[in-house]
Amino acid sequence: MPEAELINQVTWMIPNPLALIGSRAGDEWNAMTASWITQVSMEPVSVAVSVDKKALTHRLIAEGGAFSINLWDPEDTRVFVKFSKPAKKEGMALNGRPIREGITGVPIFLDAAAWIEATVWQSVDVGTHTLFVGEIVDVGKRRDGRVAGMDDTRMKYGGVKRGGH
Ligand SMILES: Cc1cc2nc3c(=O)[nH]c(=O)nc-3n(C[C@H](O)[C@H](O)[C@H](O)COP(=O)(O)O)c2cc1C
Repeated sequence: MPEAELINQVTWMIPNPLALIGSRAGDEWNAMTASWITQVSMEPVSVAVSVDKKALTHRLIAEGGAFSINLWDPEDTRVFVKFSKPAKKEGMALNGRPIREGITGVPIFLDAAAWIEATVWQSVDVGTHTLFVGEIVDVGKRRDGRVAGMDDTRMKYGGVKRGGH
């Protein structure tokens, strides 16, 4: 087993996007900052996100059976700090960011540069996290061009498990 610090340094080198994952179960709506997001299959055309079992989002995706991936403007990365804890819903806004209801019921951000909505068809227990694999049921974009990634911030996520994980 390599040294923990080296595992951190090397896994942090993996280029990752940074997006808001929307989730919902009944009256509970949420969105959280996530970086472990990727397409995983062409048929069914599927995307996956790995979600901490302790996160509210984990329960909401498990119960609601769907999630959204909201890709964001690289100039507006402060949003990712705000969504690192359960979001506050006021009317049709989460933490003051306007949302609408997607076709599966999950929140979609009106400010997103582009978005994906997916229904969960596989949930893989991978340890601290569950990899939710979802079939894409809807997509949209407001613009073309680059979207936010981890490298647009000084944030880090991943590596080995720490106390506060
Ligand atoms: C830059 C960054 C990237 C993150 N990526 C993920 C991720 O991919 N998966 C995850 O479960 N949590 C990730 N988190 C942590 C969640 O945002 C955090 O645990 C949040 O509190 C969970 O929100 P919730 O309890 O409202 O669902 C990330 C946090 C930051 C700051």
